[in-house]
Amino acid sequence: MNNVLEMNNLTKKFGDFIAVDHMSLNVREGEIFGFLGANGAGKSTTINMIASLLRSTKGEINLLGKNITKNVRFAKMNTGIVPQDIAIYEDMTAYENVSFFAGLYGLRGKLLKERTEEALEFVGLGEKHKSFPKNFSGGMKRRLNIACAIAHRPKLIIMDEPTVGIDPQSRNYILNSVRKLNEMGCTIIYTSHYMEEVEEICTRIAIVDHGKIIAEGTKEQLKAIITDSKEIWIGIKSADLLQLDQLKLIQGVTSVRHEEHMLKIMSKSEINNLNRIIQQLIMNQVEIRSIEEQAPNLETVFLTLTGRNLRD
Ligand SMILES: Nc1ncnc2c1ncn2[C@@H]1O[C@H](COP(=O)(O)OP(=O)(O)O)[C@@H](O)[C@H]1O
Ligand SMILES: [Mg+2]
Repeated sequence: MNNVLEMNNLTKKFGDFIAVDHMSLNVREGEIFGFLGANGAGKSTTINMIASLLRSTKGEINLLGKNITKNVRFAKMNTGIVPQDIAIYEDMTAYENVSFFAGLYGLRGKLLKERTEEALEFVGLGEKHKSFPKNFSGGMKRRLNIACAIAHRPKLIIMDEPTVGIDPQSRNYILNSVRKLNEMGCTIIYTSHYMEEVEEICTRIAIVDHGKIIAEGTKEQLKAIITDSKEIWIGIKSADLLQLDQLKLIQGVTSVRHEEHMLKIMSKSEINNLNRIIQQLIMNQVEIRSIEEQAPNLETVFLTLTGRNLRD
């Protein structure tokens, strides 16, 4: 399979701060590649370098086999970016916005008109082509921004947290658009801090933390990282008397989180320590309401690798 994108030792420093730290990665043709990481992990900085919006401090990026700093126009023509912060002109109509951005990529005349209409239709704003975005909902603005990014039919489409702060209906619309664009032959890079979304649509995922890729693979491969872990959820009435530190000392327990009426205990799967855990809870006079073992998901993978929740 061909690589659409190759990143080698990509690094970005802001002063002394290293936002992206020697990242290397290949994205293959036809993938919906997920960039999953907490806020501040370095996702936007990375993709802004891929989209030539930001200059790297070190490292190289190849798009379709060509270095993007040596082939600026080629790289721009073949990339479409939907930025994290919506970038559209409020005082231009939906049509004018798409037409303006497509024009930047060199489309003219009849082709420009066709592609503009096609992109607006694609994001479900065909009927709204004469409307001004200032009257649009957040979801509609985001969809318009997607239309601006795809009208020139790029090979690689990058979407930076496109579903943050929008209604569920627009969210579903966007996720379906990603699938459709992919079926039409586009390779997609999709960044998010929502693991459910990434798990739902991405064919391969990189987990990013502190500017580094700490794991990479299909969701099945990522979950396989933690087959030696299990997560036990214990419903409790109150944790007032609970000594969390005592729980953490129990053999096999790797982390304990307390969320309202739920204790979430990560433990090595080969050690049967449930009796010890329950004993401790009873000793602390904690009323147990339920016990269940959770199947691992990407959140557990993230927690295992970083020791933190994705949304902390
Ligand atoms: N222009 C900038 N100047 C200084 N620091 C920045 C700049 N842009 C991003 N950062 C820092 O780099 C880190 C990564 O940011 P970002 O790439 O936006 O993360 P993410 O998109 O994963 O939330 C953060 O700590 C952020 O504060
Ligand atoms: Mg970001």
